[in-house]
Amino acid sequence: MISESILTAKNVRLRPAEESDLAQFQCWLADDELRRWLGSVNEQPSVAEEFDWYMSKRQDPDIILWSIEAADGGTLLGNVELRLSPLNRRAEVAIGIFDRQYWGKGYGTESMRLVLDYAFRELKLNRVELKAAEDNVRAIRSYEKCGFVREGLLREHRQIEGRPVDSVAMAVIRSDWEAR
Ligand SMILES: CC(C)(COP(=O)(O)OP(=O)(O)OC[C@H]1O[C@@H](n2cnc3c(N)ncnc32)[C@H](O)[C@@H]1OP(=O)(O)O)[C@@H](O)C(=O)NCCC(=O)NCCS
Repeated sequence: MISESILTAKNVRLRPAEESDLAQFQCWLADDELRRWLGSVNEQPSVAEEFDWYMSKRQDPDIILWSIEAADGGTLLGNVELRLSPLNRRAEVAIGIFDRQYWGKGYGTESMRLVLDYAFRELKLNRVELKAAEDNVRAIRSYEKCGFVREGLLREHRQIEGRPVDSVAMAVIRSDWEAR
């Protein structure tokens, strides 16, 4: 499912992902370091694979996918998705600012805060969780700024460049968010 909601903050705007975003996503995924941090694609996908990825998101009622763009001018920056588990009032979140020029400038953190507000306020979820490679210091710091709490270490959870890397499991629960 592609989100129908548009979420806006000072510097970013989250809007429904569109087919016309795919060429840019596919192009950015040539960046080895980006793929390394995302941990979900080994190689740059083909145009056809990127389209299949998009269609699978569209068709899944438990996935909400937004494109992230800069609030001034609408430059595309990346995307963020919520994978819902309605039974458990929980979602897993995955975010990527794909354009490396925009890393470390607060766009990802601001986007994540918007998604958390939407998850708790609109979707009435009780928990939002994620996993990050334990050496992704920038991501972990960004998530801490959003209120995510480290819950544990998943040993050798992913393979990066042929070697096992631990992942940090983090979450925000509703009571954390309400007390923020
Ligand atoms: C991870 C991501 C969403 C974070 O968003 P962001 O807007 O770049 O993050 P911010 O600029 O708000 O914050 C980054 C923080 O990490 C800190 N940081 C960055 N690199 C660091 C490093 N090597 N060591 C220590 N701290 C570091 C920054 O100082 C900043 O903290 P501060 O505000 O306390 O100074 C974004 O960088 C991104 O998408 N990166 C590429 C893909 C990725 O890693 N996705 C996440 C997969 S789990």
